[in-house]
Amino acid sequence: MPAIFPRWTNNIPLAIAILAPIFGAGLVGGVWYYFSPKFTDAGYRPIQPVAFSHKLHAGDMGMDCRYCHNTVERAAHAAIPPTQTCMNCHSQVKTDSPKLAPIRESYESGKSVPWIRVHQLPDYAFFDHRPHLAAGVGCVSCHGRIDQMTVVQMDQPLSMSWCLDCHRNPEPNLRPLDQITNMGWDPATEDYDPKADPARKRALTPPEHCSGCHR
Ligand code: HEC
Ligand code: HEC
Ligand code: HEC
Ligand code: HEC
Ligand code: HEC
Repeated sequence: MPAIFPRWTNNIPLAIAILAPIFGAGLVGGVWYYFSPKFTDAGYRPIQPVAFSHKLHAGDMGMDCRYCHNTVERAAHAAIPPTQTCMNCHSQVKTDSPKLAPIRESYESGKSVPWIRVHQLPDYAFFDHRPHLAAGVGCVSCHGRIDQMTVVQMDQPLSMSWCLDCHRNPEPNLRPLDQITNMGWDPATEDYDPKADPARKRALTPPEHCSGCHR
């Protein structure tokens, strides 16, 4: 009777024994990379190429978030402002500051400043700012008191359970639609009933099913 499996298949168990730990290590490495603090841990606070302070600009000077993050209500992602936005003021203000040298260089060369991403979900999770802002969830609920930060840090874990905690019961996080960028407006101390707000036209249904966020 002829052999059903060619002779080389005898080597398969050996090949598996050799390759499995290599693939295993790759998998562990991949998982470790994806779930490492950079992506998901609250407190992540990289040093940026320019010492830009939200406390100074958004806090003390009271600039609205949307002056710089101007796409946040129109696109899934909030744009990081181009150098031109900084130069609207810094072509006149603090023009000799060494802290602003990289901004002036970027303006002259046309190369954007290499800002380091602070918040980043893994590719397999879908997030869009628009439905959240349209529902009256404020920036502060997800990003913390950015207006008090001299260096941006991640305030919330951005984990799946964090998303779901709010999706199961969004009400305590809702505010009037014109207060989404007001960092001082605190739902816990304000007397606000979303159900009685005439500006709200429908009941909210944040997704809890897997395909809502894994598309
Ligand atoms: C004058 C322009 C300006 C204003 C106003 C401003 N930002 Fe920013 N924002 C930036 C720049 C530049 C960065 C990138 C550098 C950094 O992280 O500090 C940034 C970064 C961020 C990040 C982190 C982005 C990432 O990489 O994950 C968040 C979140 C953020 N801003 C939220 C806000 C909120 C909320 C407000 C309003 C309270 C606001 N910003 C007002 C310019 C601005
Ligand atoms: C419901 C939670 C939530 C709210 C509300 C929210 N953000 Fe975000 N923000 C996130 C998450 C999650 C990310 C990471 C997105 C990703 O990696 O795809 C993010 C990322 C960012 C970034 C980095 C660029 C980007 O979009 O990936 C900026 C800047 C930012 N947010 C600014 C703001 C501002 C300004 C507001 C208020 C007008 C705001 N966010 C409101 C959750 C939120
Ligand atoms: C609406 C005007 C305005 C805009 C837009 C603006 N700034 Fe400023 N910025 C100021 C003012 C005013 C000061 C100085 C405050 C003071 O007198 O100390 C300042 C100070 C600074 C400083 C500290 C300089 C020093 O020597 O202490 C840095 C760094 C800076 N800004 C970066 C930026 C960056 C980066 C952007 C763009 C993302 C930006 N600014 C956009 C008005 C602005
Ligand atoms: C603080 C509350 C809160 C947090 C935190 C939050 N969400 Fe939401 N989410 C909402 C609300 C409210 C809606 C709007 C539901 C509606 O419009 O009916 C929503 C809607 C959505 C939608 C539906 C968008 C659409 O176009 O159908 C997705 C997807 C989503 N959220 C993903 C996420 C992810 C991913 C995270 C975590 C990284 C997250 N959300 C964190 C409150 C939250
Ligand atoms: C509201 C949005 C949302 C919903 C709904 C959701 N996920 Fe997730 N999921 C996320 C986010 C955001 C991450 C990334 C978390 C991180 O990076 O820590 C994630 C991560 C995961 C991971 C990677 C491992 C982990 O736990 O971090 C798996 C597996 C997963 N989700 C499966 C599911 C399944 C199965 C369902 C349905 C029962 C589901 N998800 C529903 C947002 C969601």
